[in-house]
Amino acid sequence: MPLTATPAWQALQQHRDATRELNLNTLFAQQPDRFERFSLSLNGLLFDFSKQLVTEETLRRLVALARQQRLPERIEDLFGGKKLNITEDRPALHTLLRDRSIYSVNEDGEAVSSQVQRVMDQMRPFVDKVRSGQFKGFTGETIRDFVHIGVGGSDLGPGLACHALDPGEPGPINMHFVSAMDGVQIVDILKQLKPETTAFIVTSKTFTTSDTMANADKARAWLVAACPDEAKACKQLIGVSVNKAAMTAYGVPASQQFEFWHWVGGRYSLWSSVGLSVALYLGMHTFEGLLHGAFIADQHFRTAPLEQNIPVIMALLHVWYLNFCKCGTRVVLPYTSCLKYLPDYLQQLEMESCGKSVTNEGETVSVETSAVIWGEFGPNGQHAFYQSLHQGNQIVPADFIMVCKAPRGDNHDQHLLATANCIAQSQALMTGKSEEEVRAQLQREGVDPNKIEKLLPHRMYPGNRPSSTIVLDELTPKTLGMLLALYEHKVFTQSMIWDINPFDQWGVELGKQLSKRMYEELCSGETSSYYDASTKGLMGYFRQHQE
Ligand code: F6P
Repeated sequence: MPLTATPAWQALQQHRDATRELNLNTLFAQQPDRFERFSLSLNGLLFDFSKQLVTEETLRRLVALARQQRLPERIEDLFGGKKLNITEDRPALHTLLRDRSIYSVNEDGEAVSSQVQRVMDQMRPFVDKVRSGQFKGFTGETIRDFVHIGVGGSDLGPGLACHALDPGEPGPINMHFVSAMDGVQIVDILKQLKPETTAFIVTSKTFTTSDTMANADKARAWLVAACPDEAKACKQLIGVSVNKAAMTAYGVPASQQFEFWHWVGGRYSLWSSVGLSVALYLGMHTFEGLLHGAFIADQHFRTAPLEQNIPVIMALLHVWYLNFCKCGTRVVLPYTSCLKYLPDYLQQLEMESCGKSVTNEGETVSVETSAVIWGEFGPNGQHAFYQSLHQGNQIVPADFIMVCKAPRGDNHDQHLLATANCIAQSQALMTGKSEEEVRAQLQREGVDPNKIEKLLPHRMYPGNRPSSTIVLDELTPKTLGMLLALYEHKVFTQSMIWDINPFDQWGVELGKQLSKRMYEELCSGETSSYYDASTKGLMGYFRQHQE
């Protein structure tokens, strides 16, 4: 039976039809304790969803949908290590990386938890060696600059965490990130660094991704140009991958190969040795703090009743807006610049996981799955796209994210300024400004009455625009770990409702295959007859104009 024909879905559709006129201002007037009723907290994190266009009845019906889709059983399947990633015939065990004590799944004869422990035990002394200045380059000088080379899940998580948790004071090493395929970033970074004191952390689940390997090749050649003894130069390479054979073939010393496993999806890999750069830059305790925070979120997801389960409610609201209210996009608005990379991270997490059109059984999904996730550091967004959020004719549900304690140093005043903007923007989206209010304001300003009538439609705000606000008491490794894992579980919940596989990403393969052939032809100057006229036209235009 298609999802849309199921009883819980139908009940929601009827509810949607009956509640089209729901108004947030009225809801708050009717229910003064709505903030308390529609917010949940967890260990230093508050999730306020009181400004969402839902009632208790909406939530009851959404939770009934989750039950109908057997969400509690699917959560146990996830934590129990069931092979949920059916198209790749593997489980998704990223939660195991956060708690190695709760269970162990046997895989290839070795308990998975002991594999994880082994890599943590390899990371710890290496991190100590680097941070204590004992990791030396080919001239015997201490390595101070590390360049993390990776892309997608092998870049976004470590980049986000290193930036978010950076204490803002010089530490024992510097960390640089390179992901761009076109070479501009790596060339610019190499210009600033010295081969004697620089090491590269090549992070790639497959160790074949062309973006990463092209940057790694450039970095490796730069080292070898300065130290022609290739084996010696390669001692400044660190590898993080599932593919040990490829790391060895590339010349990464065995002691600097940090393994992870095919049961960790790329976009769920921050918790594995992919987090090595975080540990090197900020210390092992920071990495372990992230794991601990994610573990708290895991426990909550696994044990809290659906009605009080933060990621479940986040996901159900997402389903409500995307499928029933037809809001095709959602915006993520952090109000600390420490979290400025969060929208990018969540974009991959949500869109690579949920951008699917068929169910686990290969049937066409009868509803929209992949909302467009986008966003920006909120205050910058205010000067770019908030006009559209407030007065545009598409409703974009928003996730505001704010932190109570100023994340870094001596900036209390500006932290208050940013926080005031965060709270005021969600208020403005909700309350709007009516015709009467605008008229009264313009009259007070002495504007000519004829002009007032003309200006009114341009100056009023419709309001009633929904948002959630996630408040972290502090931005710490623990709360960041919690935040990211809550979003992971949100994505999992959505996928279970839609019965899609959130752990594969076949949609990225075709472009990769075609670009390989295209690259060969752009290098060789050939154009095979295989291409369509538009593609041929672009190749021809590029060749003519590239000089
Ligand atoms: O192309 C998409 C993707 O496969 C992502 O899923 C992944 O995070 C990224 O590329 C990088 O892949 P890898 O870690 O294998 O280099």
